Amino acid sequence: MSDVATGERIPNNVNLAGDKRLQRALEAWQPNYINWWKEMGPVGFQEDDVFLRTAISVDAAGWANFEYTKMPDYRWGIFLADATPNRTIGFGDHIGEPVWQQVPGEHRNALRRLIVTQADTEPASVEQQRLLGQTCPSVYDLRNLFQVNVEEGRHLWAMVYLLHSYFGRDGREEAEALLERRSGDPDKPRILGAFNEPCTDWLSFFMFTFFTDRDGKFQLLALAESAFDPLSRTTRFMLTEEAHHMFVGETGVLRVVDRTSQMMRDHKVEHPDDVRKLGVIDLPTIQRSLNLWYSLSLDLFGGEISSNAAAFFATGLKGRAKEDEYEDHRCLDTAYSMNVVREGRLAQDDVPLRNAMNEVLRDKYVADCQRGVDKWNRTIKANGIDFELTLPSRRFHRHIGIYSDISTDIQGNVISKDEFEAKKSAWLPSVADRAYVQSLMQRPVYDPKQMANWLSAPKQGIKGRPVDFEYVRHGI
Ligand SMILES: [Fe+2]
Ligand SMILES: [Fe+2]
Repeated sequence: MSDVATGERIPNNVNLAGDKRLQRALEAWQPNYINWWKEMGPVGFQEDDVFLRTAISVDAAGWANFEYTKMPDYRWGIFLADATPNRTIGFGDHIGEPVWQQVPGEHRNALRRLIVTQADTEPASVEQQRLLGQTCPSVYDLRNLFQVNVEEGRHLWAMVYLLHSYFGRDGREEAEALLERRSGDPDKPRILGAFNEPCTDWLSFFMFTFFTDRDGKFQLLALAESAFDPLSRTTRFMLTEEAHHMFVGETGVLRVVDRTSQMMRDHKVEHPDDVRKLGVIDLPTIQRSLNLWYSLSLDLFGGEISSNAAAFFATGLKGRAKEDEYEDHRCLDTAYSMNVVREGRLAQDDVPLRNAMNEVLRDKYVADCQRGVDKWNRTIKANGIDFELTLPSRRFHRHIGIYSDISTDIQGNVISKDEFEAKKSAWLPSVADRAYVQSLMQRPVYDPKQMANWLSAPKQGIKGRPVDFEYVRHGI
């Protein structure tokens, strides 16, 4: 177990007190961070006691410590997973060489860019979700939202620690800029598209935590393989927190489809208009929300054919998720077969594997998403309803990569732009869909004994507490 300093202004297991310059720099950033949190974090709950998990160390017993905390008092800390003794680079041109404890000069810019891009998503999602507390379906869900929010804040701390420690003045400037960009702001937007999309209803929130946070999981898995050891250790610990975000998304959507399909069964209705009359979200609307957040999240993996991805792999900056599961860690003589677009039509092409690394990571992501969708479908079926949710083709509704120039239907067949526009409302949330979903979420549920009508209660509460536990003491 690593030594943990929890009594310091910034809890950490990196011996911050042993590096006064770094400690001072981070302590100077801290009030700016708190100001950002108060300005851009959850609106209307800053003074409430919330039953939150706080990391106080990285070992199994200490990292999940639950207590009532006011969010601005959350102990955002810097925690690295324990070092692996004699760790060596696991892939690329430098396989077998010792990992780096410092940033090699020639990789400085690329590494900084990787870290800043990851870091930027963390505050962005807090900004996207800042109004959701005011329409929460239950106190249980409200608490989960805030848990996700404070942990995204901690992930920002994790990345800012790397920027301050290893990138000198440039790193400090990047850390400031991370508090200045704003999700959805046309003048100073967040870096990646999905993190500028509005996420203003709870169906979107559950889809976001399932699909968009899951991109985060796979990016972290790939960075956990990095030859830059501090980045590897930082991301390995972030993954333990990310698991809860996956849980919130997967069980959130599950409870929505469970409630809808139960009501369809009990009231013997099928048509979306009749389903809506029961005050629940019809399954086609859930499918359209899924299509939107899945396609936006696929974009986050970057272009299918990428010389940057090839360079990251060759140099050891970024590997594949769970590199251990592969046999060939050099990937020099292998090709990856993919659909490409030639003169507006689909064709098959072999791409050098290193150039296809974004697509390799996307493959693992797609399989992981499918596992969740299968669970949702089992729930629909168990309620006796004949309907299946599906992941659309990965070519559908893309804005990044080789499919961004074409329009496709939901199966990925190329269609004209006009046809796409004409059929779009069957595939993506329409204005009417959004208005309907919003109409269900006009009033928040702040009574711990109650649950909104449009989703089922969770199977169990948090940390052995009952579902109707007072997870947030709001207005008390
Ligand atoms: Fe995160
Ligand atoms: Fe997350």
